[in-house]
Amino acid sequence: MNLLEKYGKLALVAGASEGIGAAFANYLAAAGMDIILIARRKEPLQQLAVLLTTQYKIQVTYISCDLADPGATQYILNELNGKEVDLLVYNAALSYIGEFEKNTAENNIQMTTVNMITPMNMAYTFGEKMLQKKQGAIILMASLAGFQGSGFLSVYAATKAFNRVLAESLWYEWKNKNVDVMACCAGATATPNFINTKPEKSSFFAPKIQTPEEVVAECFIKLGKQPSFITGFGNKLASFIMQKLLSRKIAINIMGDTTRKMYRI
Ligand SMILES: NC(=O)c1ccc[n+]([C@@H]2O[C@H](COP(=O)([O-])OP(=O)(O)OC[C@H]3O[C@@H](n4cnc5c(N)ncnc54)[C@H](OP(=O)(O)O)[C@@H]3O)[C@@H](O)[C@H]2O)c1
Repeated sequence: MNLLEKYGKLALVAGASEGIGAAFANYLAAAGMDIILIARRKEPLQQLAVLLTTQYKIQVTYISCDLADPGATQYILNELNGKEVDLLVYNAALSYIGEFEKNTAENNIQMTTVNMITPMNMAYTFGEKMLQKKQGAIILMASLAGFQGSGFLSVYAATKAFNRVLAESLWYEWKNKNVDVMACCAGATATPNFINTKPEKSSFFAPKIQTPEEVVAECFIKLGKQPSFITGFGNKLASFIMQKLLSRKIAINIMGDTTRKMYRI
């Protein structure tokens, strides 16, 4: 698919400085799109911007912004100064692994803002312009954790279910208006954030851990064709077994037991 022809010239990647977000930025830059990179830390954003500009001869700018701030979307809109986003990837997420009652109420608010409120506001704000132009695409990052109750990932998992349902709903509403919306439901992916959680291998049968590049490449095969999809063969198979062959109760127990083991809870 020619992304430039189909969607336009400017992509915005929220949560772009490392991991899956940086892989999205690389992919879009290689496709010839100009990019707005967003994350909190300036230094990795600046380094990535220089790298992509030099390598692909495109325009890359960055906005340092905390997506947990309820005013983040308006702030970004002001910084864009009239530039219109043609393709939005909302990748950033905050996660908490552990018992629900041991997290702070404040962290729950931050998590739900970064993971749900800001992507919803961005889809609303940038989606409206795409609808006017009758051209554009939005990708929201979701997770296998959002397919059923996921003990010790409770709030994170619930926010990921929100993203999947939001993207699928907008896919339906906008499919005849030439704006493609899709949720990308990833499983374990070797990002700095995932590696920092120091997971133990849960079982011999656990799906293969993917690279960020594998996740992103599959995303652009599915964009425009699917309301949501699960990345990687192993994750698809695991999800098929969990969702279609097992009872919901058993699936929830497997998910909680696996997370307990992976994180020694
Ligand atoms: N990795 C996995 O195994 C896995 C599995 C399933 C789904 N996913 C989903 O895939 C997406 C990417 O995951 P990831 O592991 O690459 O890491 P991540 O920690 O969710 O995202 C990393 C990127 O987001 C930025 N970011 C985080 N919090 C931010 C905030 N409050 N404001 C602005 N930027 C923020 C980070 O930069 P700064 O720190 O500089 O802000 C970084 O660029 C997430 O939506 C996650 O839920 C990941």
